[in-house]
Amino acid sequence: MVNKITVVGAGNVGATAAQRVAEKELARTVVMVDVAEGIPQGKALDQWQSAPIEGYDSRIIGTNGYEETKDSDVVIITAGIARKPGMSRDDLLNTNAGIVKSVSEQIAKTSPKAILIVVSNPLDVMCYVAMKASGFPRERVIGMAGVLDTARYRAFLAEALDMSVRDIQAMVLGGHGDTMVPLISYTSVSGIPITQLMEKAKLDAIVDRTRNGGAEIVKHLKTGSAYYAPSAGAVQMAEAIVMNQRRILPCAAWLQGEYGMKDLFLGVPCLLGRKGLEKVIEVTLTPDEKAALAKSADAVREPMAAIKL
Ligand code: NAI
Ligand code: 2OP
Repeated sequence: MVNKITVVGAGNVGATAAQRVAEKELARTVVMVDVAEGIPQGKALDQWQSAPIEGYDSRIIGTNGYEETKDSDVVIITAGIARKPGMSRDDLLNTNAGIVKSVSEQIAKTSPKAILIVVSNPLDVMCYVAMKASGFPRERVIGMAGVLDTARYRAFLAEALDMSVRDIQAMVLGGHGDTMVPLISYTSVSGIPITQLMEKAKLDAIVDRTRNGGAEIVKHLKTGSAYYAPSAGAVQMAEAIVMNQRRILPCAAWLQGEYGMKDLFLGVPCLLGRKGLEKVIEVTLTPDEKAALAKSADAVREPMAAIKL
């Protein structure tokens, strides 16, 4: 347990993440900050009142300012607007860049040693904005998308195979968009390569459904986007960090030569521990996977170039 975890944005992802952090008792105090007056306060009070029932001692508080967030160990940034039907993640670019910039500047002032887990979309570009605005090193700015995309892929595989999700190992790399790269060569069920258990056409359909996993949910919800699995993804990363679990999770990291790429955030296997991003793990990719990762990097570079900081 660390002293304090802050969640910025008390909307669907943020509030659910705060509740998960408290239920896992990852921090003594969980702070939710939002610009909407009353929302973080009301939700935090309601959540705190679930503590006697659920039996956790993490104290949740809600606020509209940054004073209460002072000296946070980890900050999960979910502030921004979410996708509506017909909107791509990149449609959120300029609005969310302004929001993530101002949030990151505030956090850098009040919690200069914090580790940032960025969730706001478009994810890979918002990680860049958060890193620039906070001035934090790459070890302390990590993006959540790969854990979610991989969870979707694993869930679809488990359903199709009628097998436990627990035994499905997989990784989805690349940017958090339609060009993401589910790695078939690293997909297995209890060590059995997926290609021995599923025919190619079925696997290709699941890869395609994974790539469109976010849009599928937006289409159902109509007024917002997914938040149960996204908040679980962000909290899994926070847990790996605060508990120094040294887990390898697919996260957006600032590449500095890994995978032959430099100066962009992209989803890659990351070793997460108490210092944040402890290492980017480089794995061998097939020529097709390499080409797909390069294409995905191009899809991140384009909106990144459009950002003025
Ligand atoms: P939401 O609309 O429910 O919540 C966003 C919250 O941010 C609102 O409560 C709003 O008042 C707040 N906010 C706006 N400006 C703020 C500021 N300057 N400071 C503090 N709070 C501010 O949206 P939801 O569903 O929680 O999604 C949040 C973000 O996460 C969106 O950008 C969404 O696209 C993204 N997302 C990313 C995923 C990923 O895999 N990386 C998955 C799911 C969502
Ligand atoms: C998702 O993948 C919208 O990025 C969000 O659900």
